[in-house]
Amino acid sequence: MELRVERNSDVDSWKEVVLIYNSALKQISTKLEILNDEFQHVHRYNPIEHIKSRMKTSESIVKKLKRYGYESTIENMVKYVNDIAGIRVICSFTSDIYEIGDMIRGQSDIKVIAVKDYIVHPKPSGYRSYHMLVTVPVYLSDRIVDTKVEIQIRTVAMDFWASLEHKIHYKFEGNAPDYIKGELIECAKMAAELDDRMLSLNNEVHSLSGEKRT
Ligand code: GTP
Ligand code: MG
Repeated sequence: MELRVERNSDVDSWKEVVLIYNSALKQISTKLEILNDEFQHVHRYNPIEHIKSRMKTSESIVKKLKRYGYESTIENMVKYVNDIAGIRVICSFTSDIYEIGDMIRGQSDIKVIAVKDYIVHPKPSGYRSYHMLVTVPVYLSDRIVDTKVEIQIRTVAMDFWASLEHKIHYKFEGNAPDYIKGELIECAKMAAELDDRMLSLNNEVHSLSGEKRT
């Protein structure tokens, strides 16, 4: 099944939708870069290691709409698919994640629609990350469109784990053998422990050297 873009007007609106989501991604990326630069300026420290952004492919959008039981129309995709525009922010420490989350919440033009804290409540798979669904206004020549962006904030360790788990999930089409699933859960626990210990170590070093990041 294809996204319904049979008429010329549909092609135009599909192109417009892509343009709007891409603009929303650019805006959020720029905002995060500015916050990171400001943080470096004030605290001599970068909370963000790197940022990745992506637009969901039309195939995955159609697949998701089908899974949700909706017809593949542009209207439905805008309404029901929340991760058409996605940004992944990778940091060093778990504390950075919440700091970035608070900085995003503090931006008056960003509306936070939903937050999922898979760090406090990891998924049964072992997945950990901090998800924020936000909208950002995109200014077109004749109107302003509040556009949804899914922001995933994670540590390097969480990202490392999620990448391998994703590959395994894909390889076994979601039905990995139990011993592999079990091993992944173990690795997730180790990654969580690593995050905790690295954060404690970092805090310890800062308190010893008398530097305080507040
Ligand atoms: P979808 O899972 O996208 O249908 O939406 P949802 O509303 O259930 O959102 P959720 O917050 O559960 O997941 C959204 C995204 O988080 C996914 O598209 C993945 O990028 C990531 N994610 C969630 N769970 C897992 C997981 O178990 N493993 C990995 N590797 N990534 C995950
Ligand atoms: Mg899901």
